[in-house]
Amino acid sequence: MRKIPVTKPYFDEEELEQIKGSLDSGWVANGPRCVEFEKKIAEHEGIKEGVATTSCTTALHLAMVGEWMGPGMDAIVPAFTFVATENSIVAAGATPVMVDIHEETFNVDAEAVREIISRDYVMKDGKLVNSETGNVLWGIVPVHEFGLCCDIYAINAIAEEYGLKVIEDAACALGAKIGDKHQGGFGNTSCVSFHPRKSITTGEGGMVLTDDPELATRMRELRSHGNSVSAAERDKGKGFLLPEFNVAGFNYRMTDIQGGMGLAQVKKLDFIIDSKREKAKYYNELITEKLPELIFPIEPEGYFHTYQSYVCMLDLKKLGIGSVEEGGEYRNKLLALLEERGVATRQGTHAVHTLGYYKNRFGYKAEDFPHAYACDRLSITLPLYVQMTDEDQQYVIDQFRDVIDNM
Ligand SMILES: Cc1ncc(COP(=O)(O)O)c(C=O)c1O
Repeated sequence: MRKIPVTKPYFDEEELEQIKGSLDSGWVANGPRCVEFEKKIAEHEGIKEGVATTSCTTALHLAMVGEWMGPGMDAIVPAFTFVATENSIVAAGATPVMVDIHEETFNVDAEAVREIISRDYVMKDGKLVNSETGNVLWGIVPVHEFGLCCDIYAINAIAEEYGLKVIEDAACALGAKIGDKHQGGFGNTSCVSFHPRKSITTGEGGMVLTDDPELATRMRELRSHGNSVSAAERDKGKGFLLPEFNVAGFNYRMTDIQGGMGLAQVKKLDFIIDSKREKAKYYNELITEKLPELIFPIEPEGYFHTYQSYVCMLDLKKLGIGSVEEGGEYRNKLLALLEERGVATRQGTHAVHTLGYYKNRFGYKAEDFPHAYACDRLSITLPLYVQMTDEDQQYVIDQFRDVIDNM
């Protein structure tokens, strides 16, 4: 029986050489390899500055604190995303205010953002204030889900109209584009992830991207306990005294072992994305031909999808299933049977408003965001990685066909 994982990172000798170089030099904490990696990622995305961190979660938190999000503030965020998006807002001391998404793209519904602003906020002294809690609306944290940019121009237009800030959660979207602009190039700060399920990996890791040098400096200080001089700078001379600490920061520094690994990985980024795009196209063909019960992910005109994950939805009509609950049970049974046949899958991501902490603290109900809820129950991530062969992809689809026919 074939064993097909849901994803697999793509390495060669160069990662090993970089890691060895780091060990040989003795520079294993944050240092020159990280600085070089920041430059390479920023260059790839067409952004001025990159600030490497321990994960995308810490990148998000760093960017939020750097952009003055804090207690007494609200941030609008899609309900269908990995919980880290909402958790970062909570960690910054602010309140996540969730909105629904579009099922076809899995991305935030800009109209829902407008609706919640006009329903729940009033303008006072140039700021949007929540009429119930008195919280000031800081801004919006849209997500580029699974490697497809959200409708960021519509989000930016809302932000401009009301004087709001935007931080893009681009954890899954390194290399994603609208036209020739990469994520992070839409005028906002963005955060990417280097977790092994992403296009390239440093084990764990993340980065904030920004065109604002002042913000980058502030984030570098916050990343390193509030230290106004980096270790690499201190190493250049007169490093014996500890420098000034003007803010209470964190330790979110990426190690140079990871930085070196990132340097080897970033060279492969375009190849990895192109390869996954080709395989996604092949899945689209196989699904059209053999598996009409799955709705494959769309790539709207002018968008460049990186397929960090290839996420489909179950077509309830084609399956003759009447409700999302029933569909969810069917999906779970289907995925369990596929696992028995060596095909690993995952639900796309989760509807955060249905998770214990958020449900209990804010009183959300599943039906508050029906599209997020449907995607939570009906989404299926298919295996996708560079090393996958055509035969592997055919095997996945044939197993789906056979399991569905026998359910
Ligand atoms: C949308 C989104 N945001 C944030 C994160 C967190 O990234 P990390 O694991 O690098 O902290 C993820 C991880 O999967 C994600 O999918």
